[in-house]
Amino acid sequence: MSGELSPIDKAKFVAAKQAAQFVEDGMRVGLGTGSTAAWLVRCLGEAVREEGLRFTAVPTSVRTAELAREVGIDVVGLDEAKWLDLTIDGADEFDADMSLVKGGGGALLQEKIVATASDQMVVIADAAKEVEHLGNFPLPVEIVPFGWRTTQALVEETLVSMDVMGRQASLRMNGAQPFITDEGNHILDLHLGRIGNPRQLAMVLNQIPGVVENGLFIDICDQVVIGYGDGRTETRDINEGTVTEDRLEFVEAENIFRDI
Ligand code: A5P
Repeated sequence: MSGELSPIDKAKFVAAKQAAQFVEDGMRVGLGTGSTAAWLVRCLGEAVREEGLRFTAVPTSVRTAELAREVGIDVVGLDEAKWLDLTIDGADEFDADMSLVKGGGGALLQEKIVATASDQMVVIADAAKEVEHLGNFPLPVEIVPFGWRTTQALVEETLVSMDVMGRQASLRMNGAQPFITDEGNHILDLHLGRIGNPRQLAMVLNQIPGVVENGLFIDICDQVVIGYGDGRTETRDINEGTVTEDRLEFVEAENIFRDI
C-alpha cells in the first residue's frame, strides 16, 4: 500500500513518524494542521490504539480535531490543557534559524497560539521546505473581514518600506468566495519573493489595524524533523546545536495507510 505514496508523501510520513516518538505518556501535546501534521495524527492514533499511548491532545484547527477523533485520539481545547509540553506541526518554509512561514492551510492563528503556549515546538517537513531566505511561499496574514480592502491597502503600503522583493497582497479565495478561517477571518497572501528581515516584518504587520496575526514564526520552533522520500530523517535541534540522522522502513501492511 505504501508503494502508492509519492516520494513527497513518504518524506512527510517519515518526518511525522519520527516526531511521533517524542510524544510520551501523560504529555499535553499540540497537534498541527496540514498534510504533514495529518500523518502525525494518524501515527499517534495508531500508537493510542495499538500501544495504549495516553496523552492530552490540543488540535490547531477543526479539521485536525476531526481527524484526531476519527483515529481514536481524544481532544481538548487549549484553555483546558492550559500549557503544553510539546507542539508538532508542519511548515511551508523554514530557514537555518528555524524561522518559519506557516498558514498555507489557513490555520496560522490557532497554530501560533498553540505553539507559543508550548515548552517545545517541533516542525515536521519534507526537505523541499528548507529555504535560504523565507518569502518564496506567499506569506499568509489573517485579517478581520471588516474593511478588508482598507487593511489590504495598508499592508501593501507598509510593504513599501520593508526589505522584501514583491509587495502584492491577494485575498485568499475558496472558489468564488473569500476563504474563511476557523476564527471567521480572511487571509491575505503576501507575494514577497524574499523576506530580508523576517523579525521586523512580523512585528510591523501585527501593528496594522485589521491584522490579527501573520504566518511568520520567529523564535518559536526548537527542532525540525526533515523527512526524505527514501525513508531517511534528519532531526535538527537549534538549542542543542545537534543533528541526528535515522532511517525508517516502510511496512506495507501498516494500518496507517488504510483509506489513504
Ligand atoms: C497550516 O495552516 C499550515 O501552517 C501548515 O502547517 C503548512 O501549510 C504545511 O502544510 P503541509 O504539511 O500540508 O505542507
